[in-house]
Amino acid sequence: MESAIQEVLLDEKQLEAKIKDLGRILSQDYEDKNPLIICVLKGSFIFTAELVKRISIPVEIDFISLSSYGSGTESSGKVRVMKDLDVSVEGRHVLIIEDIIDTGLTMSYFTDLLIRRDAASVKVVTLLDKPERRKTDMKADYIGFTIPDAFVVGFGLDFAEKFRNLPYIGVLKPEVYS
Ligand code: PRP
Repeated sequence: MESAIQEVLLDEKQLEAKIKDLGRILSQDYEDKNPLIICVLKGSFIFTAELVKRISIPVEIDFISLSSYGSGTESSGKVRVMKDLDVSVEGRHVLIIEDIIDTGLTMSYFTDLLIRRDAASVKVVTLLDKPERRKTDMKADYIGFTIPDAFVVGFGLDFAEKFRNLPYIGVLKPEVYS
């Protein structure tokens, strides 16, 4: 697995420190709001697990599975709900946890959906932001790291369903995906 990685972009220490900071900020911003945290599967499962451990206020957690990439490297532009939420978002302060915002198509679709479902507020925390690739005006409310336009994997992010279990964010060697 390691031999497919060109460089480590964010190591475990950097990720841990940033997630600790985000957890502190979110605990302050959502105090007394009883937020509903939504983990967007599959990519954000590790970030969600690490972040919620750093949030010190009561929260509820639900999961949705969205997909726009299939097994390719380019967004198809068509977002599909693979598994919907279990609970209603009506009147809830929703915090979406995402691993990466790339074109922004997934988050534009999902935030719109939650607003249509009458959430009281909808905010997004993303571990990684790739603004160079944006095709929408999507802006996350909380950003871990702004990164260049490289193919990154690890810490939940995949290439063709592999590499999610790397404990860091690495840049994939181009020969692996081209
Ligand atoms: C990835 C990632 C985001 C989305 C970001 O999901 O987890 O949800 O792409 O890309 P965008 O900003 O261009 O929409 P993917 O569809 O690959 O599914 P996965 O999370 O199951 O890997």
